[in-house]
Amino acid sequence: MQHQYLIGIDIGTSGCKSVIVNELGKIISEAYYEYGMSTSEPGWCEQDPEDWWRAVKITVGRLLKDFPSVQSIKGIGLCGQMHGMVLLDSKGDVIRPCILWCDQRNEKQCQDIQERVGGVAGLLKLTSNKMLTGYTGGKILWTMENEPANFEKTRIILNPKDYIRFRLTGEYATEVSDASGTGLFDVKNRKWSDELLSILGISKELLPSCYESIEISGRLSNNAAEELKLPYGLPVVGGGGDAIVQSIGSGLVKSGVMGATIGTGGQVTANLDSCCNNPEGKLQIFCNVIPGKWHAMGVMLTAGGAFKWLKNLLYEDMKEIDSRTGNVFEMMDKKAENVPVGSERLFFLPYLNGERCPHNDPYARGAFVGLNLRHKKPHLIRSVLEGVAFGLRDLSEVIMELGITPKRIYASGGGANSNLWRQIIAEILNMDVYTMNTAAFGGAYGAALLAGVGTNTWASVEEAAMVMKVKTKNHPENENTVKYNSLFPIYKQLYGSLKEDFRKISKIAEV
Ligand code: XUL
Repeated sequence: MQHQYLIGIDIGTSGCKSVIVNELGKIISEAYYEYGMSTSEPGWCEQDPEDWWRAVKITVGRLLKDFPSVQSIKGIGLCGQMHGMVLLDSKGDVIRPCILWCDQRNEKQCQDIQERVGGVAGLLKLTSNKMLTGYTGGKILWTMENEPANFEKTRIILNPKDYIRFRLTGEYATEVSDASGTGLFDVKNRKWSDELLSILGISKELLPSCYESIEISGRLSNNAAEELKLPYGLPVVGGGGDAIVQSIGSGLVKSGVMGATIGTGGQVTANLDSCCNNPEGKLQIFCNVIPGKWHAMGVMLTAGGAFKWLKNLLYEDMKEIDSRTGNVFEMMDKKAENVPVGSERLFFLPYLNGERCPHNDPYARGAFVGLNLRHKKPHLIRSVLEGVAFGLRDLSEVIMELGITPKRIYASGGGANSNLWRQIIAEILNMDVYTMNTAAFGGAYGAALLAGVGTNTWASVEEAAMVMKVKTKNHPENENTVKYNSLFPIYKQLYGSLKEDFRKISKIAEV
């Protein structure tokens, strides 16, 4: 039988991951190449788009090294870090480094935007979202105000993966999920918000044409085909923003189920059949990569990052453990397994870097509350796992306010590799936690599936998703769930009790 192959490319924040997947969903090969980030001022995060293109060429080169059937590759799907702003001039040259999703320089411009449209309610009406500093809209206004000469030269504004699409196909195009994350998109009607663009004085000509994620948005140009050693004219489908594509690659396809990603930050996500209201703008509501569906997402800024922080803090000097057992994280899990539920009355608040949801609070900070003389390192470890899981429950409750009553949750991200953490999450959320065999390839795998739908390997994203298999399932122990249920209100109350103190602490340096 002649196989069909699809390429998925994910332009992540730390590096580019590329995969080849066949029509049975099998990963034939994978490659990863890292790049750096520049933080020349506090709160600034930038990358050179040329680094992404180099990483694409290197990873695709590695994929094809021993691959015999280049002519059987049917399409390419793109995925990428969301919200970044790439400015191109009339020749298609990059004007300045890309300002990334994690850059915080434009808080003032976000406030201005909100005021110009009549507050949060006005913005929610136009785009279904608040304007977060992560989004592209505030970055565009920042450039207008602070780098007018650069803005003057700008002919097109692209998100990171769409810059790669331009290098592959010569087309200026995006798709509905990444467009949603610009904060300039009418998410409900799946089109640019003419009204908001005109209020902000941003010409629509500066924005790319917008496709559905499974639509073919362009074909491999002669130059790119030669550089990558791929067939000329190969279709490149829309693809999607990483937060949305990852959830497809981790199994979240049907409506009414939830996903949880435990990467550096944490996300709880759900598929929606319609574009719902976003009460107080707490959630991010985006177009889904599945046509006719939407995606709700609550984001906590520190999840796996808190565990990594604790690992570095407690075991910095124990690097030999990594070589002996293979993994410090596994050793930490083993220690925490023997600590009782609730870490003997110790709570951890995971707000090490401020918080986005449900508390949109840059001043929030991490805390251990309830320390006593009995507590040892394993208690701290378990308490961090539990604190992050309580944070995920907090997010899931906001998602459930939308009327979703999920019975299971699909976990992905590095944290989902821990059996203990999955079990704690199952018990704190009182839900079965599943992981899929493809979750580790997240965005790149999901992008390959989208390429397959766009080029007729599968009839729909739902059909494509049937190639994924369940890898693990964690079922909550009722006795533990009951205990966690009694602890959760205390966790929730702690933020309320400390909120004002966090603000005071942030002002100490000014005293
Ligand atoms: C989503 C978000 C991140 C970035 C980087 O809103 O900010 O998921 O896409 O991965």
